[in-house]
Amino acid sequence: VRDGPLIPRFGRARRDPTLAVLEGFHAVKHALRFGAEVELLATPDKGALLALAGRLAPDLGPRLEAEAQEVDAELFAQLVPLPPKTGVVAIARRPAIEVSGLLAGPAGPLVLLEDPRDLGNMGACVRVAAAADAGGVLSTGSHDPWHADALRGAAGLHFALPVARLDDLAALAGSERPLVGLDPDGEELDAAALDPRAILAFGTEREGLSPELVARADALLRIPMREGVSSLNLATAVAAVLFAWRLTAAGRG
Ligand SMILES: C[S@@+](CC[C@H](N)C(=O)[O-])C[C@H]1O[C@@H](n2cnc3c(N)ncnc32)[C@H](O)[C@@H]1O
Repeated sequence: VRDGPLIPRFGRARRDPTLAVLEGFHAVKHALRFGAEVELLATPDKGALLALAGRLAPDLGPRLEAEAQEVDAELFAQLVPLPPKTGVVAIARRPAIEVSGLLAGPAGPLVLLEDPRDLGNMGACVRVAAAADAGGVLSTGSHDPWHADALRGAAGLHFALPVARLDDLAALAGSERPLVGLDPDGEELDAAALDPRAILAFGTEREGLSPELVARADALLRIPMREGVSSLNLATAVAAVLFAWRLTAAGRG
């Protein structure tokens, strides 16, 4: 075992804002594929891990062969709160993200999650944003978007696009990107007319968009729904908007 006992090392990594704890094969797979710097990769059965990689991600076989450390099964079961059935966990370095550069940058729509409460939902938003090739995901509120549970929900796709916390909505003031709030009471969304540089803001699961965000927004748009349905789940709403945009000529680039 390298660099000290593994159980406290994983415990410290969960609280370290420079590190990311990856739980399970899909999270590790995407992290490696999108360039994560992995510090430690542990498995209770290296042969089984390599066989799984052979089936699901042959491109990663050589890296897993070189980097995976086999540890005792009892020790593995104590490294993270819910040991993944796919038998692999890792610690990686988080990439440094400059939020001001992201707000100024030219690439793709940004997703802004206002105070999301459910870490799995946050992860699902990151996952769909990566799949739709969005420019990045920002979140406000107390939850760390890089929390291990969010990484698990995102299948490690935090490494595929910039994901960062936005401390304050005031930081949006200098951005030339239009701020578009998604709200079930807004005007009907026309995806073809969406500015590809838009910041697409989604509200918290229970209360929706904050009054401050609504006051700052250049537009409020709704995804049309069947009468009687009050709203979509947060990650479902993010998916609907991003893929409605992605399926337009502008979204396909
Ligand atoms: C679970 S919903 C919040 C529901 C909240 N009671 C409300 O009325 O906004 C979480 C977020 O998903 C987005 N959302 C859900 N359904 C939507 C729809 N039909 N049109 C636009 N945005 C929607 C909004 O950004 C909303 O704040």
